Amino acid sequence: MSTSDADETVRLGFTGVGKRGQSLLARCAEMDDVSIEAICDVQERHLDNVEESLVADGRPAPTRYQDHERMLAGEALDGVIIASSWRLHIPMAIQAMEAGAWAAMEVGPASSVEECWDLVKTSERTGQHCMLLENACFGRDRMAVLNMVRAGLLGELLHAQCGYLHDIRPELHGFRESRMAEREGMGYRTLHFLKRNADVYPTHGIGPIAKYMGVNRGNRFMSLTSTATKARGLERWAQRELDEDAPTAGQDWAIGDIVTSVLRCANGETIIINHDCSSPRPKSGMMMVQGTDGLWNNDQEGIHVEDRSPEHEWEPFEEYRDEFEHAVWAEYQDEGVRRGHGGTDYLVMRSFVQSIAQDVRPPVDVYDAAAWMAISPLSEESIERGSDSVTFPDFTNGRWLTDQPTFGATGDDAGEGVLDFNTLL
Ligand SMILES: NC(=O)c1ccc[n+]([C@@H]2O[C@H](COP(=O)([O-])OP(=O)(O)OC[C@H]3O[C@@H](n4cnc5c(N)ncnc54)[C@H](O)[C@@H]3O)[C@@H](O)[C@H]2O)c1
Repeated sequence: MSTSDADETVRLGFTGVGKRGQSLLARCAEMDDVSIEAICDVQERHLDNVEESLVADGRPAPTRYQDHERMLAGEALDGVIIASSWRLHIPMAIQAMEAGAWAAMEVGPASSVEECWDLVKTSERTGQHCMLLENACFGRDRMAVLNMVRAGLLGELLHAQCGYLHDIRPELHGFRESRMAEREGMGYRTLHFLKRNADVYPTHGIGPIAKYMGVNRGNRFMSLTSTATKARGLERWAQRELDEDAPTAGQDWAIGDIVTSVLRCANGETIIINHDCSSPRPKSGMMMVQGTDGLWNNDQEGIHVEDRSPEHEWEPFEEYRDEFEHAVWAEYQDEGVRRGHGGTDYLVMRSFVQSIAQDVRPPVDVYDAAAWMAISPLSEESIERGSDSVTFPDFTNGRWLTDQPTFGATGDDAGEGVLDFNTLL
């Protein structure tokens, strides 16, 4: 156990306590075995909010910082949760590991493949783990599908689709957001959309799919091609809604409205990932998983299994979900699902805390973080080269050949060094 031995409390620090950081911190404040030692944000008002709410809940006031490195130098922390801007996640996680703490990063794109390597090498050199807080992997339906895949219901996996299709045009133009500007008048996400033609938010989609396909554990991503449509949605919205002199009006947006990437895996599967945040459309994860014996389609809320479903017809997913419900979700339903993204926020934070407490590899580890976040710079490269295929680095350096899939394991299946999901609640 790497935590303070006296009382086995996990000591946490939080960098970036804006909207998301405050919500993750609130989930940790519900845990008796966690001490929130320090908080860090460049905006005083966020530090005030967090301190007030912790003290109102009867918790001690955390030490306040406005500089991440000062917090790391001034505190003895077991884990650091990073929910700052996209560009800073990986550098801040590296600094946390260098300072002797485990790092947990919120989701976002990598800036380059090189920084993904830096992340992996820092973790290996320091012996500190890094978890990507990809809450999408912990969803009730996602984990039921994980059980279906592991039980072989869909046969041998062949193909999957996923994506992030979310109309956030007002937010990208600076409306309905508290997000900190990295350049005058522009939130940190906006800059990526302005300057990068890439899938800049791949991990909500690819996370669960990578777990189903055993990526980095018996399988790996081999190559990727990406293609982008022209860019229209963000400028059209600006023309309709904004004054001509607004900071985001009249901009030449780099990102294509719809970016489509195709990944090829070592075991012969293909995955299509879509990114679309610039179009008028209902939100969708466009998730589909197909094997030799059947397929699950999230948008249809349906499943079709050969020799079980009527030919050519979908069946309601709920009936299968009851049969394949993950143990942690069966218990969670009984105990009461907590707030935050359908209950996933508590599970993702709990898995980080429990991994520290049990000194086991986190269930979404540094190799997952590197491979999933690298999709952004790789898709950027492919689009720039006219949709050429780009080779995926093997961030595991061959570990994928021997490591086994363990995400969601419970009881005897978890084994030594693996997080038992029965310990999450
Ligand atoms: N997993 C999910 O479902 C989910 C949902 C929402 C957001 N997110 C992710 O969470 C992250 C944060 O999003 P948000 O909506 O909270 O944004 P936000 O702007 O509200 O919060 C970011 C915070 O980081 C602070 N910050 C920026 N630079 C800093 C620095 N150098 N040092 C210290 N603090 C700094 C900002 O002041 C701000 O308070 C993003 O990566 C986003 O993609 C994930």
